[in-house]
Order: sequence, then structure tokens, then C-alpha cells
Amino acid sequence: MIQISRGLENVIIKETSLTYIDGEKGVLRYRGYNIEDLAENCEYEEVVHLMLFGELPNAKQLQEVKEKINQSYEVPLEVLEAMQKLPRDADPISLMETAFSIMSIWGKRINRLTALDIIAKASTIVSNVYRIKEGLKTKIPEPSESYAKSFLEATFFKKPSADEVKAMNTALILYTDHEVPASTTAALVSASTLTDIYSCITSALSALKGPLHGGAAEEAFKQFVEIGSPDNVEKWFEENIIKSKKRLMGFGHRVYKTYDPRAKIFKKMAYSLAKEESKKYLQIAEKLEELGVRYFSQKKIYPNTDFYSGIVFYSLGFPIYMFTSLFALSRILGWLAHVIEYLENQPAIIWPRALYVGPEKRDFIPLSQRG
Ligand code: CMC
Repeated sequence: MIQISRGLENVIIKETSLTYIDGEKGVLRYRGYNIEDLAENCEYEEVVHLMLFGELPNAKQLQEVKEKINQSYEVPLEVLEAMQKLPRDADPISLMETAFSIMSIWGKRINRLTALDIIAKASTIVSNVYRIKEGLKTKIPEPSESYAKSFLEATFFKKPSADEVKAMNTALILYTDHEVPASTTAALVSASTLTDIYSCITSALSALKGPLHGGAAEEAFKQFVEIGSPDNVEKWFEENIIKSKKRLMGFGHRVYKTYDPRAKIFKKMAYSLAKEESKKYLQIAEKLEELGVRYFSQKKIYPNTDFYSGIVFYSLGFPIYMFTSLFALSRILGWLAHVIEYLENQPAIIWPRALYVGPEKRDFIPLSQRG
């Protein structure tokens, strides 16, 4: 009897030295390092080196990564022009897909240096998603000592505080990689055909955008806005989750059957950054978390990374529509690292099969004889 794996659950599609997840214990490691240690102690560029080159960098190597990124923020004029031609209300991920599709005109095969170039250009693209949607002049990030700082400065055209840079840096690290979820698998499927790397990123973006994956942070935050006040959480939960059986967004995970370790870190960050308005959302989120855990823990459904990340992004000044693009900005590193690893170790075209369950062989009926 042939077994179909629903949603490819537990199907192993590659070996990886990048990311280790223990879904039962809530452990996440990049190349052996606990996510908590990396998030607390690293600059994003150190994680870039770790993921692409295999080790945390020494001071000279870190400087080299930063220099290469700083030299690479410029994007071809056509990219920003095309983004500007889309309607202002276009979905931000559509703007990103447009940008990366255009980049594929200059199609690149991937290697570690082109990966650094793409990481820099991704910052320019995401910054300008915000600027274009807000009707602001486009801007290329300025070289600086920090990728997170250059990104925030270019986006909002003002100097971010040290706490804001640190929070952006940590968010970039937390979203960097998560083994082979839908978006990374989409990138790998494209990469396995030996297409150019920008096309792989466009494939990944399309998969990331959906509300069950990267779009969940926006949906989770919209729940907090809809609830409106901590006093309304119980009523909202009763009506929407218990009675109407809607999904609680920002809860549940294919791999984690306990708390997502990233959710805990985002929650802590949300507290330390919270300004007046985000404090209200934090109170709502915490009450919703309590009810959600009480109701769902028997099914092993707990908060995932997207539950609190939106409050962090909101406190940094980003509108809700930017949350998925910020996830993408960080995850591009994971996509690139997995594509490189796959092509180096196991470059077979990904081409699964489907089990045919349609009609047996039938005689053809000409159009004139069909009733
Ligand atoms: N709210 C209510 N019920 C849920 C939820 C949820 N958030 N998540 C899972 N379930 C239930 C589901 O209804 C099903 O119940 P039953 O067995 O009675 O039919 C059971 O749990 C298994 O769900 P599933 O959809 O088969 O599980 P999956 O592993 O295929 O899906 C998931 C994982 C993330 C798509 C799902 O948990 C979900 O839809 N969560 C909400 C969206 C979300 O927060 N996504 C972010 C994922 S983490 C960040 C990232 O994208 O990387």
C-alpha cells in the first residue's frame, strides 16, 4: 500500500549542517549554537558568516563580511523604477517578487560572495518597499558598522537608537533559518533545476507570503487589533476560536510540539521595547497566549515565532503590512545557505511523483458525440 505523506510531513529532502530543531524539547540551533546564545550575543553579520562559511567569524572575517555588504547596497535603477510603477496598495511581497524577478535578468549562479551581495540588496529592496508604499523618495542604505542600523536608517531616514538597532539585529537572527519549511523547500525545488538564484528567491517569497507561513505575524497582530482591549480577549476567543473554530494565528507549528524558542525571545524583546500603544497589544497578546495555551496545549499547540514578533516590529515603527517582508529580509540568508548546501552536496532535480487515482483507460468520444 502506497502511503502519501500529507503536506510532506516528516519527509526528509536533504541533509543539512545549518539548522537543528528538536520539536519536542523546543530547541533550535544554527550550526550547533543555541538560538538563545546567538540572539543574545551576536551581530547579524556574524550569523551571516556562520551560515554561509560554517563558523562564527574572527574579527578580521567579520570586517570582511561587513565591507562586502557595505559595498553592495546599490541595486540596478530598473529595480526601484519597476517597484515604483506598481500601485501603492500592492502587496509588499509582490513588490519584493517584482524586484527579485527583475534582478534575474542579470541572473546569477549562487556562491558565497554573490550571497553577500544579495543580502545587501535585499536590505535596499525591503527598505524601499516601505518607502514606496509610504509615498517617500527611494533611498539606498548607507554603509555603516551594522546591517541592521543601515537598514533602519534608510527605511525611516532617521538615526535609530542603540536599542532599536539591537532589536532589529536580534529579529534578523531569530528569523534567519528554520530548516526546510514551505518557502525554503520552494527555493530548493527551483534551485534543483539549476535556475538562477533570484528566481529561487522569488519562488520562496511566493510560499512565504501565505498566512499559514510568513504571513502569520501580520495575521496574529491583526487579531490583537481586532480584540482592541485586554477586557475583550475572553469574549473574542470564545466567539472566534471556540465557537467559529477559526485558527489562532501565531499558534501551532509543523515541527514544534511545545513552545517555539524564538517566541520566548520575541516576547522578552517586545517587553523591553514596548511603547505606550504597543503595551496595550502586549497585554492583549499575553492574555490571548494564556487562553490559547490552556485550550490547545492538549493538542501540543503553542505560540510560534510569529505571535510576538509583530509587536517588536510595531514598536520599531513598522506598519503591519511590513511584517512578512521583514521575515523575508532575514530568511533570505537561510534560503541562500540551503540552496548553496543543496547544490554542493546533492544536486538532484527535485521531482516527486503523484499517485494516480482517476478513471481507468476510456475510449475517446469526439466532441460531436458528447451529450
Ligand atoms: N489554531 C487552531 N487549531 C490549530 C492551529 C491553530 N493555530 N494549528 C493547528 N491546529 C489544529 C488543526 O485544526 C488540526 O486539528 P484537527 O486534528 O482536529 O483537525 C491540528 O491542530 C493539526 O493541524 P494541521 O494544520 O494539520 O498541522 P500542520 O502541521 O499541518 O500545520 C501550521 C502547522 C503552522 C500551518 C498550523 O499550526 C497553523 O495553521 N497555525 C496558524 C498559522 C501560523 O501561525 N503559522 C506560522 C507558522 S511558524 C512561522 C513560520 O511560518 O515559519
